Order: sequence, then C-alpha cells, then structure tokens
Amino acid sequence: MSACRKIEPILVVILYVWSLLIIPAYSLYGEESLELSLNGKWTLQNTNKSVLLPAEVPGCVHSALLKQGLIQDFYFRFNDVAYRWISLDNWTYTTSFCPSDELRRKQRVKLVFVGVDTVASVSLNGVVMGKTDNMFRRYEFSIGKWLIEGENKLEVNLLSPVVYTSQRSHAHSYRVPPECPPAVQKGECHVNFIRKAQSSFSWDWGPSFPTMGLWKDVRLEAFDVLQLTHLSTVPVYDSSLSQWGVQVEVYLDAVKQTAVRVRLLLAELSTEESFNMLVDPGKHKKTLSLHVNVSSQVNLWWPSGHGDQPSYRLMVTGVMLEEEVILSRETQVYFRTLELVQEPITGSPGLSFYFRVNKKPIFLKGSNWIPAHALQDMIHPADVRNLLQSAVDANMNTLRVWGGGVYEQDLFYSLCDEMGVMIWQDFMFACALYPTDPDFIETVREEVTQQVRRLKSHPSIIVWSGNNENEAALATDWFGIPVAQRPQYYKDYVSLYVDNIRAIVQQEDGSRPVLVSSPTNGAETEQEGWVAQNPYDVHYGDTHYYSYFQDCWDWTALPRTRFASEYGFQSWPSFSTLQKVSIPEDWSYSSNFSSHRQHHLGGNQQMLQQAALHYHLPESSDLLQRYKHTLYITQVMQAQCVKTQTEFYRRSQSEILDGKGHTMGALYWQLNDIWQGPSWSSIEFGGKWKMLHYFAQDFFSPVLPVCFENQDVLLVYAVSDLSQDLSFRAVISVYDWSRMDPVCTVASRPALVPGSSAEVIYKQPITALLAGCGGGSCTRLTCFLMYHLEDVSGRQRGPVSHLFLSSPKEAQGMLKPNITFSIQQDEVVGYTIHLRSSAVAAFVWLDVQDIPGRFSTNGFLMVTMNTTVTFYPWSPTSTQKLAEALTITTLRDVY
Ligand SMILES: *[C@@H]1O[C@H](CO)[C@@H](O)[C@H](O)[C@H]1NC(C)=O
Ligand SMILES: *[C@@H]1O[C@H](CO)[C@@H](O)[C@H](O)[C@H]1NC(C)=O
Ligand SMILES: *[C@@H]1O[C@H](CO)[C@@H](O)[C@H](O)[C@H]1NC(C)=O
Ligand SMILES: *[C@@H]1O[C@H](CO)[C@@H](O)[C@H](O)[C@H]1NC(C)=O
Ligand SMILES: *[C@@H]1O[C@H](CO)[C@@H](O)[C@H](O)[C@H]1NC(C)=O
Ligand SMILES: *[C@@H]1O[C@H](CO)[C@@H](O)[C@H](O)[C@H]1NC(C)=O
Repeated sequence: MSACRKIEPILVVILYVWSLLIIPAYSLYGEESLELSLNGKWTLQNTNKSVLLPAEVPGCVHSALLKQGLIQDFYFRFNDVAYRWISLDNWTYTTSFCPSDELRRKQRVKLVFVGVDTVASVSLNGVVMGKTDNMFRRYEFSIGKWLIEGENKLEVNLLSPVVYTSQRSHAHSYRVPPECPPAVQKGECHVNFIRKAQSSFSWDWGPSFPTMGLWKDVRLEAFDVLQLTHLSTVPVYDSSLSQWGVQVEVYLDAVKQTAVRVRLLLAELSTEESFNMLVDPGKHKKTLSLHVNVSSQVNLWWPSGHGDQPSYRLMVTGVMLEEEVILSRETQVYFRTLELVQEPITGSPGLSFYFRVNKKPIFLKGSNWIPAHALQDMIHPADVRNLLQSAVDANMNTLRVWGGGVYEQDLFYSLCDEMGVMIWQDFMFACALYPTDPDFIETVREEVTQQVRRLKSHPSIIVWSGNNENEAALATDWFGIPVAQRPQYYKDYVSLYVDNIRAIVQQEDGSRPVLVSSPTNGAETEQEGWVAQNPYDVHYGDTHYYSYFQDCWDWTALPRTRFASEYGFQSWPSFSTLQKVSIPEDWSYSSNFSSHRQHHLGGNQQMLQQAALHYHLPESSDLLQRYKHTLYITQVMQAQCVKTQTEFYRRSQSEILDGKGHTMGALYWQLNDIWQGPSWSSIEFGGKWKMLHYFAQDFFSPVLPVCFENQDVLLVYAVSDLSQDLSFRAVISVYDWSRMDPVCTVASRPALVPGSSAEVIYKQPITALLAGCGGGSCTRLTCFLMYHLEDVSGRQRGPVSHLFLSSPKEAQGMLKPNITFSIQQDEVVGYTIHLRSSAVAAFVWLDVQDIPGRFSTNGFLMVTMNTTVTFYPWSPTSTQKLAEALTITTLRDVY
C-alpha cells in the first residue's frame, strides 16, 4: 500500500472532489489470505450526468440522494410517485483503489460483491469483468491479471430495473402475467422478469421503490494457495446408535493441488476429529462427518416457549501440510431434530400437516415477515432485533419469511436461532407466473444454491418453500389463461419450482422438508402433479384465508385447516406514526393521502364496513378527533377479528369435526410494516405495537382459555402448549356494562388437560348461564363475559379474556368512562401507570405518541375501578414526558 499511502493527503482532497476512497481494512483468513474492503465512499452518477454525488456502499441510489439532500424523505406524502424518475434512469457507481504489491503478487485476486441490486455491468480499468442480474446472488470476479500498479478504477453500471423488466417481457415469446400491478398500488410492471425483491415494484401494503445499488459488502479477497470460502454445519441424529453427529461442509477454493489436514473441535462436547484431504485446483465442497462423543450430554435447541436455545462452539482449523499455512474458522452448532409429519389421520380424509421438533409436535404460533424497509440499507441491526423481540414478547415461536421480499440478512437468522423463533423460509417468488428462459433458470439455480448454503446451518429454519401463492394462482386461474395455453404454464411451473429449485434444495440440504408453494396440499399436491385441483383444501397442507365482508366474529365461516399460514385484516397505524409523513390537510379518512397510502382496492371502505358490524363508527364533530378515532376503530376491529380467528385455530388442534381439524399452525398476515400506511400488520413502521400485537401476546399465550358460542351454547376450551398435563378450571364472570362488580361468577370443575392439546372444559347454554346469574337480570345486550383459567391451587394461568354476547354497538348501559392516571417510575423495568376509571370501559387504549416502547398490556377491557399497566421504554424517557404524551381512548369515546 506504500505507493498509495504517499498520495494519501492528495487522495483525501480527490475524495472531496471526485469522491474516491481507499479503505485498507484487512482481515486475516489465514496467514496467506488478504481481504480488502471496498465499502465506504463511492461516487454515483446518472446517465446524462446531471446528477453527481458521493454514495455509501453498502447502499442504494435512493439513500445516496437522500443523504445528499437531493431528495426529501421518500415516505413523505406522495413522494413515492414523485421520485419515480430515480429508477427509470441508469446509474453508475465508481471508486478507485490502489492495491499493494503484496496484493498484486497473490496467485488469485477476487473482486467480491456480496449483493448487487440488480442488473449491472462491472468493469475494472475500462475492461468488463462481468455482469450481474440477480439481487440474491453473491458475485465474484477473478481480477488478478487486470490489476495495475497505482490507481485502479472500478465501475458498476446499473441498468434501470424498470427498463430491464420491460425489455425482458417484450422479448419474451408469450405473456407471463401479471403484466402490471393493480393501479391502486401505483407500481411498476413485469417485476417477475427480474430477480429482485418482488415487493420493490409495489405491493398491496407497500410503495414502489425499485432500488438500485450495491446493497451488500464489496471487497477484494486474495490468496496464493487455498481459501476457505464458506463453512456450513448440520446436526444429524443417528437414532439406531442414539448418537449425535455434525455434518460439516467445508467449501474450498484452491489455486493448485494441496494436501490439507482439517481439525474439527467441539471442546464443550469433548469431541475432536481430524481429516486429511487432497484438494485439487478449483472450487470444492468437502463433507466431513463429526461424531459427537457419546459420553457427552448434548443439550437440544428448542423453539421459544418449549425450552432453551443452547449452542456449541465448533472450531475448524486447516493446516496445509507443505505450506504450513493455517486456515481457521469458528461457528455455532445447535442440535435439534425436525420432521414435517404428513400422515393419515383417523376420522379424517387427507393427511396431517405439522412439525415435530425433537420428536415433540409443536403448534406453530406467529406471523409473516415482510421487508422491514423499502431500502434494505436503511435497516439498522437494532430494528431487526426489536421486531424479533416483539415477536417473542407476543409469545410467537414462528415467522414465515414471505417470498415477495428478500432472503434476510445473516443477523436476522442468528437472532432467530438465539431467540428460538422458527422460520418458514420461502424462496423469493410471489403472486405471479415466472419465465423459464435458460438464463433465468441459470441465475435462479445459482441463487438457490448460494442461499441454501448460506442459511442451512441455522436451526431456526424449519422448512424451505418454493413460492408464495403461485400454485394457487395457476390452479384457480388468477390471470385468465386460456385453457389451450395452460399446459405451457404448468410445465414452466414444474420446471422452475420442482425440477430446479426443489431438486437443488434436496441435494444441498437433506435435513429439512421442502414444500413447493404456500398454500399447498404438500404430499397431495405432489400426487396431483404439483398443481393441485384445490391448493386451499383444508384436509391437506397449509391454507391462506381472507374474507373481508363476512362478519369476522362468525367462526363457523372459518376454514378448519391443518395449518393456517396466512389470514388477517387491515388496520391503520397510529396518528403519531402517520404524522411523520403527512400534513394537516391529510388528516381525514377521505383525504387524498388516505387514498394514496391504501394499496389494497377498497381497503379503507372494507375496514369501516367490518368495524360497523359491531361498533359505532366515530362521529365527533371535531374532524381531527374523528380521524384519530377512526384510526383507533380500525385497530379495534383488526385486533378482535384476528383474535377470533386465531383462537379458532388454536382450539381446533386436538379435534376432528366433519373430517376436519388437527390445526397445528396459526401465522397471521403480517407482522411488520414497510412504510407508514394501512396494512395487515400488527407492528407499525418504526416498531410501535398496534392493538393487534397486544392481543397476540394474549391469544398466543402458552395457556389460553377460548370461550365462544355454538348455537347458543357457551363453550370454554383450555388450550395448552405445556409439556406436562395439568388440571384447569374455567372461571367465568358475567359483567353488566353499567357497573363494575361482576353480576355473578361461575367456575367449572377442574379437568385434566394433556400437554399440547385443546380440551372442552365448560359447556352451558347461554340462557341457563344468564338465568342463573344475579337473579336473571342480565340480557345479551346488558351483559358480557370475562373469563380465565385457574389451576387446582387457584392460580390464574394464561390471560383474562372477554366474550361479547351482542355487538358493543347494541350494548345497553355502556357509560362514558372518566379515566384518570398517575405515572411512577419503578425500580428497574419501566414506568407504572395507575389507571382509575369511573365505569366499565372497552378497548382501553393507551398511547404515548412517538415515545419508543411498549406497554405490558393495552386495548384491554377495564372492569375494575383501579388497574396498573407498565410501560417499558426502548430509550430513556421520564414520567413527565410520558404524562404529557399519554392519551387514553375507549370504545365509548368515539361516538
Ligand atoms: C437528465 O436526467 C434527469 C433524471 O433522469 C432528468 O430529470 C433531466 O431532465 C435530464 N437532463 C437532461 C439535460 O436530459
Ligand atoms: C439506460 O440504459 C438502457 C440500456 O442501455 C437504455 O435503453 C436506456 O435508454 C437508458 N436510460 C437512459 C435514461 O438513458
Ligand atoms: C469422550 O469424552 C471423554 C471425557 O468426557 C474423554 O475421556 C474421551 O477421550 C472422549 N472420547 C473421544 C473418542 O474423544
Ligand atoms: C386530490 O386528488 C385529486 C385527484 O388526483 C385532485 O384533483 C385534487 O386536487 C386533490 N386534492 C387535494 C386537496 O390535493
Ligand atoms: C374524572 O375523575 C377525576 C378524579 O376522579 C375528577 O377529578 C374529574 O372531575 C372527573 N372528570 C369528569 C369529567 O367527570
Ligand atoms: C382505587 O384507588 C384509589 C386511590 O388510588 C383508592 O382510594 C380506592 O379505594 C381504590 N378503589 C378500589 C376499589 O380499590
């Protein structure tokens, strides 16, 4: 580096003018390997050179323009449309660097792009090194012979993804629908022609920001003999020997034939083995089987709520016998077994569909994950951690990484490993048909190979799934394909997902199940030639179910599926979140802004229509107040709808009724948001919990009472995710809307509830319950129920829940409560909020605007005069700030 160091001061000046930078960030793979980061400051220019600016790598054009103040917050108001020009232009990233003599003397020098978004040509000193066309691939170019002494100029020419997809679709011999997204999404067309986050051209919950950039690290890697490029580990249990092993895959790149001795050490398990191998020139995968010492106790990894997530450190060292060069790596190994069980069920046509972890059937509770930001480079590690922690705090054990986004960053999966969050991993294809031209298949094959190798060591991933809803799109003909042309599309479907993706996954990772789509009938879909007649069949596999017009409280309309992998309702985020991207004229439900943010046709109307079935719609004459109340009522509607549906799925886990049931998963759509707009999420953009997320904390509780009516008979189920059997009694209190003490309280006899099951523990006609209560003063209109479970020692287990006997809009006697509060900082965890109410209050909603943090509970029914709630701040705050910000809204306040 000496030549360059001499010119360093000049470079700093040049950097200012030309934005050049050299970052000599070495890290040592082995003694002979060099790694030089090319991250940091690059320059960026558009085609006609009207814009020239410094740009960070990793990063993208949008974030570079934002950082230079050339555009404003792209989420503000209508900016998604205003900034459409950015991705219609072509952009060039440029940097230069001065390789040291040491680097230039290396036998092999690779230029590595961990992620290029997306279509680009890479050139070094004016010579094209190669092209890229897939955001999900890592690219490397051998550049040794093109390096020159002194300054080397590196250029990445990015082609507009919108222009690219347009060109590709026109060049294609037949249409591959959908051509364009619905107009309401204000998006770009033909996204299925590019291997890029499919939601980046707009979605029904997100804006169109077709990003372009170098979204992951760029670096030089150099070595003389051998490079250890990657390492993966998969635990293997040999049940006949009762012995654990680890299948270790070592990926090597050799310049010449080399003898290597690889030593694997799992010190905590007193396990060590060495392997001698001869590595030929080129790239190789070597698979080594490590047998764990039988005298060591292996502690297993468990999903959250079922046990701990212990890991073991594996040291891998390689010694090249002649060169005396050492390669060394360290990684974490987790032990668990995994099965997807699809077998006949007594009393039911079809097959079961559930996951067994360490031989234990597990009910999967959780949600669906979408990209946390339209610009991946703007996602901070703390955001990812916070979202995953919020999932775990809501008693979730599973997230589905949905196929219209990205394969998430390493940190995401490592955190899931540590937190016990199971991942249903889609491949990135969604809601579309896809081309199968040879170059498209080729780039997908490389993408799948790389991603499976990158991710297979994570115990959190429990299933690979080929795409989102594409089997259903074909089977139920979303795109109006003429019958005569269908064979072609079916053939393309099978070619892409079965013959290519599934085949690669099975070859690369025998340790996990592979599904071809979601929803799918699993084994039955395979029987039917990969596109089932009805992929939504509740007797097989998983289902997605949405119904916006039906009364969401009517559980009888719900599919008694084996596994609910998507279902949900929209709501609006809170006012404080919307305020960040809007101005006063936007603050009405009928504003242009409110229509603009709604990307689901008729969505705003659907929310009100569903809400109006059970609640009075806001009617304040203060228009701002009415707007805020409307946001609130959409959240009330959403929370109660998803509660009803999720409780239906959880209580259906042990039963077969009319040949349907044994539901073993409930993943609602969707966990998080990509921007500040209406969506199905339970967490707002920025991390604030909606009412639904507080409800999820309860309805995903390990022990849950579920109370509902079946033809005027009240039933209470006890749902238990516990490992042990336990006796529960149901305690039901009948409350009159107009007073705070229960009219009466009844309790069932204790009933033994086996671990991992749902059992009926109370059954009584409603009329009998009400007649026997407080002298029969209650009617469906004047009273409602609060209920919980107790164990035999009288201890409450699980949450207290509510059941309305009529719509709250018809309730008689509901008073306008006067709720007052005081706040105290408590010793360790947070702030205690003492609430005092003058009357029974429904859906009590505490809001501290944009003070980051969450409450212990929220959106609850207040049936006692006093209650306390804890606020857990995510950054320092004070009682005074909280007191100033806190607002309290209840159902009776909106009309
Ligand atoms: C150059 O490109 C920008 C962005 O695409 C465009 O707004 C501008 O009008 C162009 N300028 C000229 C001179 O063509
Ligand atoms: C971007 O590059 C493509 C392909 O070379 C070209 O067709 C298109 O006109 C370019 N766009 C602009 C704005 O120059
Ligand atoms: C297994 O572990 C024990 C001690 O825990 C050790 O004495 C023994 O050598 C180990 N066996 C092997 C094959 O490494
Ligand atoms: C709302 O949008 C319509 C149609 O785009 C436009 O005509 C109208 O001026 C907009 N209103 C406001 C207040 O911006
Ligand atoms: C609400 O209750 C507080 C304290 O109990 C009382 O001071 C206040 O006057 C009440 N407000 C209304 C509007 O009744
Ligand atoms: C509620 O709290 C207030 C003071 O905070 C107390 O005076 C009152 O007795 C409490 N009421 C009940 C029913 O506990």
